[in-house]
Amino acid sequence: MTKISKAACIGGGVIGGGWIARFLLAGIDVDVFDPHPEAGRIVGEVIANAEKAYAMLTGAPLPPRGRLRFCQTLVEAVTDADWIQESVPERLELKRGVLTEIDAAARLDALIGSSTSGLLPTDLQRDMKHPERLFVAHPYNPVYLLPLVEIVGGEKTSAATIRAAMERLPPIGMKGVHIAKEIEAFVGDRLLEALWREALWLIHDDICTVETLDDVIRYSFGLRWAQMGLFQTYRIAGGEAGMRHFLAQFGPCLAWPWTKLTDVVDLDEALIEKIGRQSDEQAAGLSIRQLERIRDENLVGILQALKGGDGGKGWGAGKLLKDFEQSLWAQGGGETMPADPSKPLRLVETKVSPAWVDYNGHMTEHRYLQVFGDTSDALLRLVGVDLAYVEAGHSYYTVESHIRHLGEAKLGQAIHSACQILDVDEKRLHVFHTLRDTATGELIATAEQMLLHVDSKAGKAMAAPAGVLDRVKAIAASHAELALPEGAGRHVGQRR
Ligand SMILES: NC(=O)c1ccc[n+]([C@@H]2O[C@H](COP(=O)([O-])OP(=O)(O)OC[C@H]3O[C@@H](n4cnc5c(N)ncnc54)[C@H](O)[C@@H]3O)[C@@H](O)[C@H]2O)c1
Repeated sequence: MTKISKAACIGGGVIGGGWIARFLLAGIDVDVFDPHPEAGRIVGEVIANAEKAYAMLTGAPLPPRGRLRFCQTLVEAVTDADWIQESVPERLELKRGVLTEIDAAARLDALIGSSTSGLLPTDLQRDMKHPERLFVAHPYNPVYLLPLVEIVGGEKTSAATIRAAMERLPPIGMKGVHIAKEIEAFVGDRLLEALWREALWLIHDDICTVETLDDVIRYSFGLRWAQMGLFQTYRIAGGEAGMRHFLAQFGPCLAWPWTKLTDVVDLDEALIEKIGRQSDEQAAGLSIRQLERIRDENLVGILQALKGGDGGKGWGAGKLLKDFEQSLWAQGGGETMPADPSKPLRLVETKVSPAWVDYNGHMTEHRYLQVFGDTSDALLRLVGVDLAYVEAGHSYYTVESHIRHLGEAKLGQAIHSACQILDVDEKRLHVFHTLRDTATGELIATAEQMLLHVDSKAGKAMAAPAGVLDRVKAIAASHAELALPEGAGRHVGQRR
């Protein structure tokens, strides 16, 4: 897989800002051109949202954030980029002008993607001297969380460009789908447009309010769509006889008056006002920023749930996230031995994320176990127990934990954990972790854990192989001089 080495974003609004965040958090430098006087602030707010969302989304080691630079001219921004993403307003003439400028200044081998929601790539590339490198890369808002990109080529787009564009998306956590033929609005917006027209009729005809309509979606098929889309959902709806039975059963409905799609509603002042009023009522005072935060937290939750789908293998967008995390671990997850191995090993540096806190704004109980579990995982990677090792059928399982809560961790607080090995033999690994406030060093919690080396396929304990054991023993030997930590060996209810 080839990774983008430098990106340029032309236009930094809702979508451009989302692309910028997606690239930066994947470790890619981004040069931006947007003449809007407040572009810096707007992009900054999108990046802040994206960072919050990623802190909740994944514990995998993100690469160091890319460098962000705002440029005075389009030429400056695109000159040495190998992926250029155009996200200016949806007007054909404006986009053609911008793309012609990009065409004149970009590297010959640069990939040039347009975020257009529905314009044809053939129309966009008409005036370009090197149109073979232009394609539509249509994302979904928020670009930093939703992984899909529709890749659409025009008459002059080369097959090599499409291949290269598709290849560069997985390393930034995205899924490209190549749309076989160009068509206005591609696939996603075609579907949404059909639903949107029907929805506007239902509001226009007073069949329901905007809130009821949204409830119909989010309490029912909206939940299904995130995981199986339309066709696979209907396959199941056909019962044991599957898709053919479903088509036979519901096919006749197509001839019934179940749709007004052939008519387009007149979006007149009265209808606009009606939708605007009902939408204000539905928002119940929540600002757009608040709604964005709620949306992001919900999307993170859905993606994480899908990551555990199909018996832990991951399903749909969750499988993509799982694969992305595995590649992050493979690249950046190789732990490096802290400079002084004779001290407890400082292994996890993190911040208390919004998804970790309870109603008091304090880190909730099970997140302590998560951070301590991450600490044990980091220790294991350090001694060679990585994903490949686990997939080969061997691992350490935690068989006992004792956590003491000594202080409080609050939302946004920087915290870190350290691990001291107390004892080790062929099968057992006895560790003591501490969790501290990074700014003050104050002790927040401790965890004592016993881990057992297992053959996970056979489901029983077995001696760790020499390579792993030697590394654990080397650390244990350098920890042998350390005093037994205060609190080690405690049990629940013991007086202090
Ligand atoms: N909003 C969505 O949900 C969505 C989803 C997918 C795709 N898109 C597509 O993305 C594109 C951008 O939409 P948006 O919603 O981000 O719009 P937006 O209005 O939020 O952002 C457009 C940005 O382009 C900047 N701009 C205008 N002229 C420019 C120029 N000549 N050079 C550089 N920057 C310029 C503006 O200052 C603005 O910041 C459109 O083609 C749209 O169809 C939008």
